[in-house]
Amino acid sequence: MLSKKKIIASVAIMSAAVLGVSQATVAQAAGVTGKVEVFSWWTSGSESAALNAILSALKKSNPGIEIINAAVAGGAGTNAKQVLATRLAAGDTPETWQTHPGGELKGYVDQASVLDLTALYKSEGWNNVVPKGLVDSMTYNGKTYSVLTGIHRANAVWTNKAALRKAGVSFGESVTFAQLEAAAKKLKAAGIAPLCLGDKDIWTAAQLLEETLVGELGAATFNNLAAGKASWTDAKVVTAVNHFNTMLTWANSDHKALDWTGAVAALAKGTCAMNVMGDWAYGELIVKQQKKDNIDFGYTVIGDPKTFVTVGDSFVIGAKSKNAAAGEAFAKAVMDPKVQIAFNKLKGSAPYRTDVSTASLGAYQRAAAKTLATGTLVASLVHGQQLVAASVGQAFSDGVTVLQANKDAAAFGKAMNAATKG
Ligand code: BGC
Repeated sequence: MLSKKKIIASVAIMSAAVLGVSQATVAQAAGVTGKVEVFSWWTSGSESAALNAILSALKKSNPGIEIINAAVAGGAGTNAKQVLATRLAAGDTPETWQTHPGGELKGYVDQASVLDLTALYKSEGWNNVVPKGLVDSMTYNGKTYSVLTGIHRANAVWTNKAALRKAGVSFGESVTFAQLEAAAKKLKAAGIAPLCLGDKDIWTAAQLLEETLVGELGAATFNNLAAGKASWTDAKVVTAVNHFNTMLTWANSDHKALDWTGAVAALAKGTCAMNVMGDWAYGELIVKQQKKDNIDFGYTVIGDPKTFVTVGDSFVIGAKSKNAAAGEAFAKAVMDPKVQIAFNKLKGSAPYRTDVSTASLGAYQRAAAKTLATGTLVASLVHGQQLVAASVGQAFSDGVTVLQANKDAAAFGKAMNAATKG
């Protein structure tokens, strides 16, 4: 027979055990378990710091989850996209992967390799906080397929303030080619390479050409060119391509040995003065190079300052992945308003949720977010966002490789006409 005291003690132990079990059950119900493989090309200092902001939030709300960061190095997905294609073909599908909305995302939708997230958008109320135009860029046949981390602006010119001062150069909120040319002369005379370029991977040179074309010809003409509704051999296009040829002669001599992060590092040092690059360079300048917005570096835009060339980063859930629930948990972490600010602060892109405040972001980012909301948006061809066949983007990048060798703007135009009208 148990004494009264002992009975009370054992009841207390039992209820503690019951409580322990029920607490564990609650914790489990609150979070997803198992593996989640997150595939991206975010490996630079700022890119991986930003990715970690999402991953730590994911872990916090899902303590039992096992996160595998499967990032493959190479800016703009140079290597990652091929690795992913091989994996998908072999049925080795990550839970979630990075892709640009528009043409690139559509490619995965056409292959039926991604899950339809329309129900999730509805149950989470995301349609109410993501601007309609952005939801549309991830929607095909009425179904929405990805979640956005943020929107990068491709058409920025980053400048080293001390280098410009030394050469007696100053820019306003936008520049023309003639102003760039005048600045290049002064910079050269001051012993500074005017252009910072890291075109070890061809996309950075292709991006320089894209932003020159958008800046000089305008958003509507650029869209028409990409869609095969305007001719690439038009005199104005040829002139813009020749301006690109000229700009290449301003580059740092080691440009073929550097990638985009190397060009940003050279800009930060001031051995060269201007870098035409998406605002992931802003993240890199702030996070990796520890430079200050509008003090150490400045920025301008070629052509219309209200034109915003979009490079959205989004994530899909693999249709054949082993743990779609974990992919969904990742999507929810991406969409968390707090994560959106923390991530974009490190990444350099603009947050887009209509219910988050940009007040804590730097001056450049606040301005970019405003232009995103009110400016003229044009999708980047180089980053796969134009809604055209992937072969058009490929022809553009191949054409830039040929241009670098032969400087033949008319031949480039002919090749692009064939690619866009073909
Ligand atoms: C992506 C950015 C990335 C950049 C360089 C772009 O395609 O959208 O997120 O930082 O490539 O890797």
